Amino acid sequence: MRAVLCHQYGPPESLQVNEVDPLKATKGKLVIDVKACGVNFPDTLIIQGKYQFKPAFPFSPGGEVAGVVREVGEGVTHLKPGDNVFSLTGWGGFAEQVLADGYRSFPMPPGMDYQTAASLMYTYGTSYHALKDRAQLQAGETLLVLGAAGGVGLAAVTLGKIMGARVIAAASTDGKLALCREYGADETINYTSEDLRERIKELTSGKGVDVIYDPVGGDLAEPALRSMNWRGRYLVIGFAAGPIPSLPFNLPLLKGCSVVGVFWGAFAEKQPKDSMRNVQELIGFWQSGQLKPHIHATYPLEQAADALNEMLGRKVMGKVLIIN
Ligand SMILES: NC(=O)c1ccc[n+]([C@@H]2O[C@H](COP(=O)([O-])OP(=O)(O)OC[C@H]3O[C@@H](n4cnc5c(N)ncnc54)[C@H](OP(=O)(O)O)[C@@H]3O)[C@@H](O)[C@H]2O)c1
Repeated sequence: MRAVLCHQYGPPESLQVNEVDPLKATKGKLVIDVKACGVNFPDTLIIQGKYQFKPAFPFSPGGEVAGVVREVGEGVTHLKPGDNVFSLTGWGGFAEQVLADGYRSFPMPPGMDYQTAASLMYTYGTSYHALKDRAQLQAGETLLVLGAAGGVGLAAVTLGKIMGARVIAAASTDGKLALCREYGADETINYTSEDLRERIKELTSGKGVDVIYDPVGGDLAEPALRSMNWRGRYLVIGFAAGPIPSLPFNLPLLKGCSVVGVFWGAFAEKQPKDSMRNVQELIGFWQSGQLKPHIHATYPLEQAADALNEMLGRKVMGKVLIIN
């Protein structure tokens, strides 16, 4: 089988497509014939040695897949060969086959296609955990989403609307903001051409926002935190801009607000039942037509580097997928 392999840390161009031995299912695991693999920002980090997980070389990036069960190992009883499945793999998904954990693999709901199934867990799972479990977002509250047209950002826009919030989408281009409006954003801010703080003041009659969803970090974090309403919640999701922001500690004091960390992978590991319940609720949103991932582009294995470079170049809107 073919796999996109990282033999040493480096940029996307250093990845190689190699022929490797077919995989064998081991205890508690299954082999999946991959049909689609979601590309996520952590894939750009893991190949550069900048992510919290550092698999042994050679490894394939690719943290979430959808496909067909090829073989199940001892102890995997909820799936059988031939079943359509989606799975959180962490890495290994940029390949024709992946060895996945049984407890992180789920039967695909009837009628769902592989591209949707490979777009659901990472982005929607993270944003739902953040808004529901960590921020406890309430209907009628105002939610500001930074990087709102990206993978987790657009998921937060959709889920914020489903949860009844007024959603302000903020992103770097008007094209990205137009997509956010299509996905339900009530208001938009272009933070390349507009002043973030001034616009938030204008849009909230000076009160500020109740919940901030921040997957970007960098220079946006401080002006965003300064735009918080009394008793607001600042969700720390990620640092796509690069630098990890340092924030003045007097701001949470003055605003009576919370800075709340979000680590969805650890949540799924430590609270599997709660995570599973969230996945079921997300499937329900998809079934009722409220949730539909935006597929920006698909690439074959040979062009995996292009997919990663598109993400690093800040061009992706919604999801990019590797497909077989
Ligand atoms: N905490 C968790 O559990 C968790 C889970 C999943 C992902 N994450 C993190 O969330 C972040 C976003 O992930 P994603 O998969 O949604 O990525 P993505 O689709 O690439 O979205 C990231 C967004 O960040 C903005 N951005 C600003 N500066 C950037 C730069 N220098 N390079 C790339 N993007 C930049 C871009 O929006 P604009 O151009 O509009 O600014 C882009 O749309 C990552 O840091 C990731 O590690 C965290």
